[in-house]
Amino acid sequence: MTDLAARTIFITGSGGVLGSTYVRRMLAAGARVIASDLPGARAEALKDAHAGNDRFRFYDLDVGDEDQVTEIFSRILADGWEPNVVLNNAAITGELLMGAGKPFPDFRDISVTDWERTMRTNLTAPFMVARQMDRDIVGKWPCTLINVASMYALKGAHHRIYDGMPFKNFAAYGVSKAGIHGLTVWLAGYWADRGATVNTIAPGAVFNNHSEEFQRRVGELIMLNRMAKPDEIADAMLFLCSPAAGYMTGQLVNVDGGFSGW
Ligand SMILES: NC(=O)c1ccc[n+]([C@@H]2O[C@H](COP(=O)([O-])OP(=O)(O)OC[C@H]3O[C@@H](n4cnc5c(N)ncnc54)[C@H](O)[C@@H]3O)[C@@H](O)[C@H]2O)c1
Repeated sequence: MTDLAARTIFITGSGGVLGSTYVRRMLAAGARVIASDLPGARAEALKDAHAGNDRFRFYDLDVGDEDQVTEIFSRILADGWEPNVVLNNAAITGELLMGAGKPFPDFRDISVTDWERTMRTNLTAPFMVARQMDRDIVGKWPCTLINVASMYALKGAHHRIYDGMPFKNFAAYGVSKAGIHGLTVWLAGYWADRGATVNTIAPGAVFNNHSEEFQRRVGELIMLNRMAKPDEIADAMLFLCSPAAGYMTGQLVNVDGGFSGW
């Protein structure tokens, strides 16, 4: 079901916790993978991990930069690869902010600059990637777009579980993740006659060395009573990338251990 031999997958933000897992699993499933991310340590680690694999390529790409996004598919096509899966994965996440030593201000103190930075990366950038996909790919060959939301897209954050934690759930994150499913459903109908499908995946809470206490608190909100392993999100992602998902469009797929079922 997840044989990806016929898939050429372009993915943004590929060096993160989930992105790097997706790349590894997509390559193992036979796909050609066009990875991209901001230049830096995450990008270098990903390039090192897959050096020598002729089904792997990497492009530096800041998804918030309109000029870079406008040129990305032309560069990929000029290099001889034709993506038939596009994955809008890059995001400003709580863990990314924590890793960069950024503070998590109270809601009343959030600056418009910080709000707009998150919106730019998490919502405007996926729009720009989709718009460029429309210009360069849609209608030329069958293809699919996958947008990435979160368990906190359409449900409110449980703010209490973050008390005393080094990271918080911040408003722009949930708002941007709710908005991206709006892009999915809008485009699904718009592209239907041109052979392109669009879906959203909403991952649950993914374990990344969180404290025992945080795991306990978030686990109580999840039917399966534990955080996800990155590979468990990748299992569903591979399905959405595969031909087996060909009759799905405009859908939001929760992979959250039952968080949204309660
Ligand atoms: N990990 C989770 O628990 C979880 C849960 C729900 C949803 N998600 C979503 O899954 C996706 C991947 O999450 P993750 O856990 O791997 O996050 P992460 O923070 O580990 O990785 C995010 C990646 O996006 C990249 N990025 C940030 N700004 C960028 C920009 N302007 N241009 C290009 N790349 C940029 C970062 O460099 C990083 O590699 C995100 O959309 C995230 O919101 C994650």
